[in-house]
Amino acid sequence: SSKNHSIIDERYLDEHIDFAEFGPTETHELTKIQSITAHRLQESWTKIPHVTQFDNAEIAELEAFRQSLNSKAESGNTKVTLIAFLLKAVCNSLKAHTQFNRSLVERGKSFVQKHYFHIGIAVDTSRGLLVPVIKNVDSKGILELAYEAAQLARKARDGKLTPSEMQGGCFTISSLGVKGGAGFTPIINPPEVAILGVAKAKIQPHWDGDGFIPKLYLPLALSYDHRIINGADGGAFMGELVQILNDIRFLAL
Ligand code: COA
Repeated sequence: SSKNHSIIDERYLDEHIDFAEFGPTETHELTKIQSITAHRLQESWTKIPHVTQFDNAEIAELEAFRQSLNSKAESGNTKVTLIAFLLKAVCNSLKAHTQFNRSLVERGKSFVQKHYFHIGIAVDTSRGLLVPVIKNVDSKGILELAYEAAQLARKARDGKLTPSEMQGGCFTISSLGVKGGAGFTPIINPPEVAILGVAKAKIQPHWDGDGFIPKLYLPLALSYDHRIINGADGGAFMGELVQILNDIRFLAL
């Protein structure tokens, strides 16, 4: 079976170098997931004109609220995670900026406008990168999303995701968190048209006119398919996202 999933475009590989000439080496086969991911990312990166837009959300209040939920009985046994708020914020932004909930079809002559809100979360596993999809994020609350994200991430790591749990996504969130450093440019997961990369939240000085005050900033990077989303749409989507994360009362609107 292993030979059949070697589907990386050979033009992009340097196969003819004998690396052993330069030092000790060994050769390993990619896992099936690594191989499929390599192919899909190459397709995306080479075929889709990506634009990546950056901003920071100020999340001190959100973090205080999250921690207060976790210290109280409201959250039950579910740990309230940042990803739950990100899911909800992205969902509301998708509702307000419908260009982000489309897919190009019919060789680019048409697009499908989706009226459902299924959002994938990238999970790093020992077998490779997996993206379980949380369905109907619009109809779920923060606790339910936190629970479902944790369950799906665990299933991904245990190799127990079913194909249907990885299908139907409208948008992906890649939350590298503390491993994401200052920021990174995420690659779109086709047939989706946009992806959000989340790096490490950090306290940074903010000039308020009189002096510097410490603010907790969450670095966000939004990559989108420039064939179907223009820069103004990108700015509006990011603006919405930042507004919600800055003040999650906007989720109630
Ligand atoms: N910046 C700084 N700290 C962050 C962060 C960020 N962007 N994102 C999360 N953290 C912190 C959280 O505050 C948490 O700290 P705490 O234990 O003090 O509450 C800690 O990192 C762990 O985060 P976690 O509780 O796992 O929440 P999450 O929202 O990051 O993710 C899951 C929830 C269930 C999705 C997560 O556990 C998981 O499996 N993530 C997989 C992520 C992954 O593989 N990413 C790679 C993508 S290629």
